[in-house]
Amino acid sequence: MTSSLALLGGKPAVTVAGPHFTWPPIGESTRAMVAAQLDTSVSIAGRSGIVADLEDALQEYFGVRHAVTTSSGTAALHSTYWAAGIQAGDEVIVPAWTFHATASPLFHLRAVPVLCETDPDGNIDPNRVEELITPRTRAIMVTHLWGKPADMSDIVVVADAHGLIVLEDGSHAHGAGIAGRKVGTFGLASAFSLNGPKPLSGGEGGFVLTDDDDTYRRVIMFAHYNKRAKGEIPEGHPLARYAVTGAGLKFRIHPLAAAIALDQLSRLDGYLAGRAEVARHLTGRLAGVPGLKVVEMPDGVVPSWYGLTLTYRPDELGGLSLDRFHQALTAEGASEFDRPGSTCPLNQLALYQQPGVLFPGHPHSHRRYEAGDFPVAERVHAHTIKLPVWHREQDLKLAGQYIRAAIKVSDHHKELL
Ligand SMILES: Cc1ncc(COP(=O)(O)O)c(C=O)c1O
Repeated sequence: MTSSLALLGGKPAVTVAGPHFTWPPIGESTRAMVAAQLDTSVSIAGRSGIVADLEDALQEYFGVRHAVTTSSGTAALHSTYWAAGIQAGDEVIVPAWTFHATASPLFHLRAVPVLCETDPDGNIDPNRVEELITPRTRAIMVTHLWGKPADMSDIVVVADAHGLIVLEDGSHAHGAGIAGRKVGTFGLASAFSLNGPKPLSGGEGGFVLTDDDDTYRRVIMFAHYNKRAKGEIPEGHPLARYAVTGAGLKFRIHPLAAAIALDQLSRLDGYLAGRAEVARHLTGRLAGVPGLKVVEMPDGVVPSWYGLTLTYRPDELGGLSLDRFHQALTAEGASEFDRPGSTCPLNQLALYQQPGVLFPGHPHSHRRYEAGDFPVAERVHAHTIKLPVWHREQDLKLAGQYIRAAIKVSDHHKELL
């Protein structure tokens, strides 16, 4: 008897032609904004034009005093750490599982990333932070992984009890929030990416948010030497005389990226509402599928649905490996089911195991991580399968086919053993 599984010769469950997910959505208004920018300026050194427009719009959207754009999320994180006063030898507690750029800029400051175990959803486990605090700890950096806000109330309590700075990497979570408060507004400062698939995208780019005037000026000093620093660091400020050189780095956003991001920002809440609707459909139908556990959202938590994560349960499918399960899904045409690659437990990466090779003399040299150090993060990461979340009503048909693919592979798992 032939199998109905596509991997074994049957018909694929997904019949909609690819590509199945592209981001950001580029429509007429994005094209018009970019065309207008091409006719205006493709290089902006001060806080003016499209850069000022985007920063103003970000300030308004997030309800913060300062937004400073950068060339990337990595640059925003680097600037945030420097602006927050992180110095050589300082320790910063970061989630063990995140994209490495959340923490890697610390090496350039000769500061020490201290990895913290995560909850099963991949976010930093607030109950494991305290045991990592030493006299050198200065800050806690939080990532809102895949767009699910981390447990900020518990993080803030631990930080306050120990006089630590709270920083956020909101790169997956533009517009997400907890009890009406937006991610990126819980600490001294936050950094976001505007890179390709991010919920708010400019193609490339990033930004820093802060309510603190001094932190804002330090971001300018670090990321925007010369014209912006001269324009925004007041005379008489102790850093003003360094304005020409800043700290020697230039992290300016490209005006065309700013144009794309500004246009996208005007539709961000619409995208998020659409994603929430599609996610409700996907989670509702996938929740009961043997072999898959759907991420849970506590009351009051509003995710950005950057990714919908499923934890694979081989025990419910006779021990079928995730490799084989994933292979069968892909054969069904459900090619957007993805396993996280570079966003992995950082202790598995060479830079975190042996930083001394790239950063000789770094104080971290004595604190090498190795695979196996973070059993929760590593187990969940190894069993995670995720989907991008579509945002349009017409995407529900495709989402329905993906659901059918998952149910089919789960139902027929014995044929794969
Ligand atoms: C959590 C997180 N932080 C930081 C970054 C770095 O952003 P960028 O690629 O814009 O430098 C990324 C992604 O790319 C990310 O996923």
